Amino acid sequence: MSDPAQFEAVDFFTDPALIEDPYPYFDYLLSRGPVLGLPHHGVVAVSGHEEALAVYRDTGTFSSCNSVVGPYARFPVPLEGSDVGEIIDRYRDQLPMHEHMVTQDPPLHSRQRGLLMKLMTPNRLKQNEAFMWRLAERQLEEFSAGGSCEFIAEYSQPFAMLVIADLLGVPEADHQAFRGRLGRTPGGLSGQEQPLNALESLDEWFTRYVEDRRSRPREDVLTGLALARYPDGSTPDVIDVVRTATFLFAAGQETTARLLATALRLLAEVPELQDELRTRRDRIPDFIEEALRIESPVKADFRLARHDTTLAGVEIPAGTPVMLLNGAANRDPRRFDQPGEFRLGRDNVKEHIAFGRGIHTCPGASLARAEARVSLERILDRMHGIRLSEEHHGPAGARRFEYEPTYILRGLRRLHLEFEAH
Ligand code: HEM
Repeated sequence: MSDPAQFEAVDFFTDPALIEDPYPYFDYLLSRGPVLGLPHHGVVAVSGHEEALAVYRDTGTFSSCNSVVGPYARFPVPLEGSDVGEIIDRYRDQLPMHEHMVTQDPPLHSRQRGLLMKLMTPNRLKQNEAFMWRLAERQLEEFSAGGSCEFIAEYSQPFAMLVIADLLGVPEADHQAFRGRLGRTPGGLSGQEQPLNALESLDEWFTRYVEDRRSRPREDVLTGLALARYPDGSTPDVIDVVRTATFLFAAGQETTARLLATALRLLAEVPELQDELRTRRDRIPDFIEEALRIESPVKADFRLARHDTTLAGVEIPAGTPVMLLNGAANRDPRRFDQPGEFRLGRDNVKEHIAFGRGIHTCPGASLARAEARVSLERILDRMHGIRLSEEHHGPAGARRFEYEPTYILRGLRRLHLEFEAH
């Protein structure tokens, strides 16, 4: 689809052509204005970088209650009037994922997030990175001798999952069971068909850990998590601790797995980049940032207008679902020069909003960056001549890729690679 006239009636939430390549549509939106009412679900799309930042920062006007389900948030009463803040607050616990911090507003959000930040101490992150190096080595060992792999199932998904398991202090002895049980995170941030609590099976697992550590404290991370207090000194209910922990799998697993896949696809398509990064390891962080900018794993995020407002001259009535298109804003030509071009060393690459902004800014950003850096270091050591499998992805010039069919994430479903093992 490339004719702009065709985009006018496009349904962003269901059109399969946008799954394969959303960028021509994003360009169209940007050309019509950074804030634009869409023909479906009464959604207002924000594709401009500056405008997206304004929404992220204004939590008084824009609620996160629908951040995951977007326009599919259903309230039992109509959202009528010039201020629907009270209705949102009264019924928000009937919305999917309401128990997770990503859908909460202050002050509840601040409490839940405070709990999480106690877990992500500099010391814990340091130990977690040491685990990443061991894990990367072990996983590459599993398949690298064969000279080919399906990178997502064989490397990036189990890697991203086990890093979070380790962060939370799941003992290494339990990792295999985790891996077997959770080939993929159930539900997660992937789309509209969410049961009320999509993460229930993980909840059960962590409830056992937390209850065990509360009754028999040990010297381990799970004990720290189980005994953590809210900033006011009160003890959270077991289920609140558990949900803080399990939500990390939903938020951090698929997103990071897709970032890794994008990075490997870019390397496989441009062999000179492999040589450059192999000899200039210090450029790996820049490479990761540009990958996050050009293929933002969370392409769309949502807010709900609490009261009537105006953004970039566009009226937004109370109750309007506002779609923040990180994937478009990160290619806004007013912010990024030649935005469709992958440019290693782009000056302002860190202005990308792949991790969102404001009070909900991704608390796992440094973890995701470390995961990508450690993985790339080890992959560049162990895998040389990385290329796409023509059998699965077709020859150069006629490549075929399949993307996750969701309106939230942007990510490859499979990435078949060939390489020489070292
Ligand atoms: C490349 C990987 C990742 C990307 C692109 C990403 C992206 C995002 C974005 C855009 C948000 C903001 C949502 C909003 O404002 O509505 C977010 C929130 C969040 N992310 Fe990440 N994330 C990634 C990895 C991770 C990892 C590894 C973890 C944890 C280990 C994590 C945990 C979270 C949590 C808990 C939130 C909710 C924070 C809050 O509501 O205050 N993310 N992420």
